[in-house]
Amino acid sequence: MKPVQVGLLGLGTVGGGTVNVLKRNADEIARRAGRGIEVTHAAARDISKQRICDTSGIQLTTDPFEVVSNPEVQIIVELIGGDSLAYELVIKAIENGKHVVTANKALIAKHGNEIFAAAQKKGVMVAFEAAVAGGIPIIKAIREGLAGNEIQWLAGIINGTGNFILTEMRDKGRDFDDVLKEAQALGYAEADPTFDVEGIDAAHKLTILASIAFGIPLQFDAAYTEGITKITRDDVGYAEQLGYRIKHLGIAKRTQSGIELRVHPTLIPERRLIANVDGVMNAVLVMGDAVGPTLYYGAGAGDEPTASAVVADIVDVVRVLTSDPENRVPHLAFQPDALSDTPILSMNDVETAYYLRMQASDKPGVLADVTRILGDQGISIEAIIQKEPAPDMENASVIMLTHKVQEQKMNDAIAQIETLDTIHDKVTRIRVETLSAN
Ligand code: NDP
Ligand code: HSE
Repeated sequence: MKPVQVGLLGLGTVGGGTVNVLKRNADEIARRAGRGIEVTHAAARDISKQRICDTSGIQLTTDPFEVVSNPEVQIIVELIGGDSLAYELVIKAIENGKHVVTANKALIAKHGNEIFAAAQKKGVMVAFEAAVAGGIPIIKAIREGLAGNEIQWLAGIINGTGNFILTEMRDKGRDFDDVLKEAQALGYAEADPTFDVEGIDAAHKLTILASIAFGIPLQFDAAYTEGITKITRDDVGYAEQLGYRIKHLGIAKRTQSGIELRVHPTLIPERRLIANVDGVMNAVLVMGDAVGPTLYYGAGAGDEPTASAVVADIVDVVRVLTSDPENRVPHLAFQPDALSDTPILSMNDVETAYYLRMQASDKPGVLADVTRILGDQGISIEAIIQKEPAPDMENASVIMLTHKVQEQKMNDAIAQIETLDTIHDKVTRIRVETLSAN
């Protein structure tokens, strides 16, 4: 049978990795897909640029719409990124009756509802495994492997750049900016790296995971997002003294009143496997009612790990090219007419425990004032560390771990604590999750 012709949009980190994997493993991939797969056309901004892959035999163009409209191309692989040009290209590809594979989480999180509806109407597939957690097949695991479960919650380290930065800061005492530059050079970071460090990229991915876990439409705007730029080496050190690690987690949780959807730095007990996921590695912990906790681990970014997921999607598409569109695995795991309208909760309604750090005057009665304010909000304290002031300093660091409380109550308590004359600067607050099975 004639090989399937693939049109690639983008020849950067992931595009280059995809060409390399498809070429190197061509025979093995053809044995799996049932026919050969060839990249015949590709678009990039600068077609004379040196690439990480061999582009001989591929027809290159600077106009991605040429690829999308080429009648010989059956599958479009979108690896340009961003949510404007990529959106136009994907919609055009669908209109032209082409199947689409993408690694673009921003595109799916923001425009996925519309894209999937268009694809459904046209009877084509849009596959996006590489959009979440790089090389980990987490979409397939939740959408297919866990289809018998009611998913209760999931929590993941789903940004490789951020985890790489936190790990290097902790293990080697390196500066934030210096590590970020290295992550960019290694091809891990987004075109705009604030997406990585401010949690936007993780929120895109969490939005996708929540939809396939809970059967809700994609709602990126409802996700709470907090980055890692304010984490200090002191916080990392105090967390360790308390038996915790700080990780940038995406958490989606089903509760009685709605769904929590939040990305923020989080203290997690160091004994949890996920607390020991370092560098560019990602991990997603999923709690299903039947299976219990399952953990998925692997490289979260990089050319070939991401290509691994892109190529798996291409193989999936090739396998179903001739099958009945009505009987394929639904894009968002649940049948499109069976999505639920369960609300996403406001962050004020979320309940977690907290790590608090404050600079306090070294005087009697200060701690009593703080604990009274917390007590008035019904917040109980699990642990306190008080550090002596440094020799030339007047203030002592006070670190507290609290039990679980509603975020609104903690906001009110922090606002009152910050008005005390004896408390200096802002109170640092990091949420704490035990991630236990119960
Ligand atoms: P790169 O910046 O490395 O590559 C982007 C490619 O798109 C480049 O080849 C670029 O061309 C091309 N391109 C950009 N604009 C145009 C245009 N107007 N017309 C034609 N071509 C264009 O990005 P990545 O490979 O890192 O990322 C691609 C996608 O994959 C993004 O959505 C990203 O979020 C996602 N992703 C990335 C991962 C990673 O580890 N890097 C992991 C998982 C997902 P040129 O090279 O000539 O500039
Ligand atoms: N910038 C992303 C990350 C790429 O660092 O996780 C993978 O999605």
